[in-house]
Amino acid sequence: MNIALIGSGGREHALCKKFKECKKIKKIFCIPGNAGTAELATNLNIDFLNFNLLLKSIKHYNIKLVVVGPEEPLVKGIVNFLEKNKIKVFGPNKFASRLEGSKAFMKIICKKYNIPTAKFKICRNFKDFQKSILGFSLPVVVKADGLAAGKGVVICKTKEQAVKISKQIFKGKFKSSRKVVLEEFLTGEEVSYFLIVDKKSFISFGSAQDHKRVFEKDKGPNTGGMGAYSPAPIIDKKLEKKIIQKIVKPTLKALKDNGQFYRGFLYVGLMIKNNNPYLIEYNVRMGDPECQVIIPRLKTDLFKIINYSVKNQLKKLKLSWEKNKCMTIVLCSKGYPGKYKKNKIVGIKKIVDKKKLFVIHAGTKKINGNIVSNGGRVLNIVCKGKSFIQIRRNIIKLIKKINWKYGFFRKDIGWRVI
Ligand code: AMP
Ligand code: GLY
Repeated sequence: MNIALIGSGGREHALCKKFKECKKIKKIFCIPGNAGTAELATNLNIDFLNFNLLLKSIKHYNIKLVVVGPEEPLVKGIVNFLEKNKIKVFGPNKFASRLEGSKAFMKIICKKYNIPTAKFKICRNFKDFQKSILGFSLPVVVKADGLAAGKGVVICKTKEQAVKISKQIFKGKFKSSRKVVLEEFLTGEEVSYFLIVDKKSFISFGSAQDHKRVFEKDKGPNTGGMGAYSPAPIIDKKLEKKIIQKIVKPTLKALKDNGQFYRGFLYVGLMIKNNNPYLIEYNVRMGDPECQVIIPRLKTDLFKIINYSVKNQLKKLKLSWEKNKCMTIVLCSKGYPGKYKKNKIVGIKKIVDKKKLFVIHAGTKKINGNIVSNGGRVLNIVCKGKSFIQIRRNIIKLIKKINWKYGFFRKDIGWRVI
């Protein structure tokens, strides 16, 4: 069967590499892909948000299944569109994607179904905000309701800062929505838990911890993620049970009560405090770079898992995982997450691809035979092994060998477990 993978980041290269092992897949098309996926699959340079154009290519290349990597096409309804056109697709529909696409939607479900989460208020205008802010102590978390490419959350230490950010959101800084969600600031340990879901059932897809801040010691502004590792030891069997009972099951029931259901990867972003989970956010996709540390540990055929989900048969499936631990460190363009230069040659002739140490491409493309940077997060160096400290040493050694003068990385990824 021919399949298509939508997206162009490290997550998609990691998925593509895994699909490459699946015997039942004939051809993989990455839309648009990056320099890494180009080595394994056929990249199609199509704007995937142009659904009609996308459909034409899907038909032209006889693609029978589409796997969606990023959130934007999901929130915009790519699943509804493709299914209406009789194309099988792995990902949640437009309604279910609001779990990520609207923070207000997610919070209303939490309230109605008693899901543990930070105390919140939804503000529709500045007057609403002025009244609501009185009920919060500092710091207060100000969130844009809609998608904001990771820039819609600010932890405000002063009321003035909260006022300023909220005014920007009400003015339409993020086109996706003009609502503000105010939240109580939660303390504890952050962790991500993943599932694969279908209409009837769900299956755990592991855990990971990400490092969102740009600088070592978790300083500086938020990024898409500077590195991650899996599994996250904080999630033991007992805590996993609580996450399922208190958070996952009530959420899926809420969708069902609305005559809807979820299919796809589900990313549960949590704060753990006194061994209890609090929901921070849902993402309706795999995490990036979390995907790059979960997929390499998976022993079960990924194509089989996705087919079972598409056929609502996940219940019959048991996944098997390697005992190895896995970590990735992200090599970024200098200046990220602020301004940075693109099209800088990355000095790797070939993708390093050993069984336990390999390079996943994120923001890269190929020009005249050279691999050049094409984004803020450029390469993900991934390593598996028995101890996180040794894994990290191996990764840093390889990054030093790559010696990319336009890049930087965090040397303290995994500090919680090392
Ligand atoms: P989100 O986009 O909702 O994941 O928020 C981005 C990051 O902001 C999260 O990964 C947390 O580190 C932080 N954050 C969001 N909401 C809260 C909260 N209520 N309390 C503390 N930190 C938060
Ligand atoms: N690494 C965080 C995310 O994928 O949202």
